[in-house]
Amino acid sequence: MTQNTHMGVIGLGPMGVGLTFNFADNGYTTVVFDPWTDARTTFADKFIDEIDDRVVLVENLESFVESLPTPRCILLMVKAGDPVDALLEALYPMLSKGDLVCDGGNAHPRDTDRRGLDAEKRGFGFFGLGISGGEEGARHGPSMMAGGTVDFFDTVAPALNAISAKHNGSPCCSHFGPGGTGHFVKMVHNGIEYAIMQLIGEAYLLMRDAAGMSYGQMADVFDKWNNGALSSYLFGITAGILRTPDDLGDGVLIDKILDQAREKGTGQWTVRLALEFGIPVPTIAEAVSARHLSRYGDDRAKAETLLPKPNVQSNVDRGSFVDELEQALCAAVMVSYAQGLHLITAAKPDGNGWVAKPELAGRTWQAGCVIRAEFLEKIIAAYVNEPELPNLLMAKELTEDWATSMPGLRGTLCFAIQYGIPVPALSSALAYYDGFGNSRLWSSLIQAQRDCFGAHTYERKDKPGIFHTEWLK
Ligand code: 6PG
Repeated sequence: MTQNTHMGVIGLGPMGVGLTFNFADNGYTTVVFDPWTDARTTFADKFIDEIDDRVVLVENLESFVESLPTPRCILLMVKAGDPVDALLEALYPMLSKGDLVCDGGNAHPRDTDRRGLDAEKRGFGFFGLGISGGEEGARHGPSMMAGGTVDFFDTVAPALNAISAKHNGSPCCSHFGPGGTGHFVKMVHNGIEYAIMQLIGEAYLLMRDAAGMSYGQMADVFDKWNNGALSSYLFGITAGILRTPDDLGDGVLIDKILDQAREKGTGQWTVRLALEFGIPVPTIAEAVSARHLSRYGDDRAKAETLLPKPNVQSNVDRGSFVDELEQALCAAVMVSYAQGLHLITAAKPDGNGWVAKPELAGRTWQAGCVIRAEFLEKIIAAYVNEPELPNLLMAKELTEDWATSMPGLRGTLCFAIQYGIPVPALSSALAYYDGFGNSRLWSSLIQAQRDCFGAHTYERKDKPGIFHTEWLK
C-alpha cells in the first residue's frame, strides 16, 4: 500500500477549503485548485495567514496535476452533476495510470457507478465519497462514506482516517461497497436528516402554536432534550438557532426567515430510489413533500383566510405536553432511522451492489455528521446482535423503548389533530409503526378490488397458486 503524503483538492467552496486545511493539519501537503479565478483569489486573500508550505495554491489544472507525485490522489469538491463530468473530462488526459480520483460531493449513486466504470476503463481509480458535517466538519473532522474499488480506497484510507471525525478514537470513515455505495449511504443519511429536521420543525410548531411558547422557552426545551434521550447534533443546534438574535433588526432571527424550505435534491433521490426498490420510507417522503408544500407561500396565505380551523381554547399543561412531545420525537426519530436503514439493506432491482451494512452506517454516523446522535449506540447494538435484522423496529433492544415512547407519539398526534397543527412526519412515523406491526392490513381487500375490476388475480393464504374470481357485482 502506497502511503500518500500529498493530496490534491479541486474546488474551493467552504467544504473544499475546510478539507484542505484539515489535510494540511494532519501532515499532508495539499495542492489546491479551483476552476473559478474568483474562488482562487478569495481563497488566497481570505486565508493568507493560514497558507503555509503545506498548502499549495495553483492557477491551472496542468500545474495542479504536475504538482502532485504519482500515484496522485485527487479529491473533487465541486458542485454535483455536470460540473463533475466536465472536470473529469479535462483531468483524465493529464493523469497517469493508477492515479485516484475521489468525488467528495453529494453525487447520485448512479452517476458514481457510471463514473467508476469509466475511470476503470481508462486505468484510473475512482471512488465516491459522501462527506457529512458541513463546513465545521470538513475543517475539524467529517464523517465519510466511501464506495468504489477497495484497493484504491486502501491507498487513501490513512489520509481520510486522519482527517475524519473520531468516535471513542475510531475514525468515522468507512468503505461500504463497490461503485456508488458510499454515495448511496450518504444519500440515505440525508434522507434521515430531512426526516429529523421535519420532526423537529413539527415539534417547534406544536410548541409555538398549540402551547403558545416563546422562542426562549422552546430553546430551553431543545437544550433539555439535547441532554436526554434525544441528545444529538440537530437537536443541539436547534436550541441555538431559536436564541440567535436578528443581526439586521430586533428580535430573534428565526422570526424573520421566509417560511419556505429549499433543497438540493438528496432527499428526493432517497424517496425516488426507495419507491423504485419498493422500500417504504414514508417519513422521509413526508419531509420532502413538506418542503414542497412550504413553497406555496402566497397560496398558503390566501388559503389561511379561507379554510375553517378547529375552534379550541388553548388549555395546555406545558410540562406534561413537552414530556409527551419528547417521547413522540424519540419514537418518530427512531422510526426515521428504521426506514433509512431498511433502504440501505435493499438491493437494486437489477441485483447489483449498493447493499450496505446498517451497523457500519451507524458507526460511521456516530461523529462528524449531521445525524450524529447518542442513541446510535443502541441501533448499532441491535445490528451487532442480529446482523440480518429485517427492520430496526423488530430489534429486541428497542422493545422497551417503543413501549415508553409510543404512547407519547399517539398522545401528541391526538393533540395536534385537535388543534389543527400539521404534523405529517410525526403522523407518518406512527402509521409506519402501526402498519409494520400488523399482520392483517387492508391488502386482501385491495387485491380483491384489483381482481374484481381488472382480473389482476390474487394469491390465497390457504392454497398455493394464482386465482381469479367472478366477484359479485
Ligand atoms: C451534510 C449535509 C449536506 C447537505 C445539506 C443541504 O451531511 O453535511 O447533508 O451534505 O448538502 O444538508 O441539504 P439540502 O439543501 O438538500 O437541505
